[in-house]
Amino acid sequence: MKVLDSGMPEEIYWNSLFDIPRIINWLDIENISGPIVEIGCGYGTFTLPVAMKTNNQVFTCDIEPAMIEITRNHVRQSGLTNVQFSLRDVLEIGTGLESKSAGMILLFNILHFNERRLLLEEASRTLQPGGIAAIIHWRKDIETPRGPDLNMRPDQGTILDSINGLDLHFDGNSKILEPYHWGMQLMKGNNS
Ligand SMILES: C[S@@+](CC[C@H](N)C(=O)[O-])C[C@H]1O[C@@H](n2cnc3c(N)ncnc32)[C@H](O)[C@@H]1O
Repeated sequence: MKVLDSGMPEEIYWNSLFDIPRIINWLDIENISGPIVEIGCGYGTFTLPVAMKTNNQVFTCDIEPAMIEITRNHVRQSGLTNVQFSLRDVLEIGTGLESKSAGMILLFNILHFNERRLLLEEASRTLQPGGIAAIIHWRKDIETPRGPDLNMRPDQGTILDSINGLDLHFDGNSKILEPYHWGMQLMKGNNS
């Protein structure tokens, strides 16, 4: 099942809606050990800059063949060799990755729907202890030029409600990622 309202506008326009270096910096990729997993690569807006910052494997997936193809072409042109692709419906069949195998999982612009708990469960299952689920989404407190309906957008409270009972906790890292997004990081392991 494709996430509601997860279609993409034209690529250059989409990429212009983020301060990509700021977001990559916030991820602190250099301190992540283990594979990095991305749910819904879209145009590879974050796949490439993440893969450039690490020698670890980056496993990315999307339900749309066109998105996988576009991102695969970008990766090919960049010469990066640490990205693996999977065309799949993560809501239906998960990531297919082993439990406790990932260092970080990226859930970017994909948690604005009622089934978000399924993706958070998959994050909780696949992350190693101490691994990080990094979430970004459109802000609700300002007008933004794109993004799902305001009443569908999650905020940090929505995410915290959705991880109740999962092996994930908020690690204190939440911030506005100007211009239009907020981010929060959840850590695997109930040791907070
Ligand atoms: C709004 S886009 C965000 C893309 C990218 N994460 C970003 O922030 O630039 C959401 C992406 O998730 C993909 N997607 C939607 N439902 C999915 C599913 N069930 N399994 C895997 N990918 C999915 C869409 O095809 C789309 O490329």
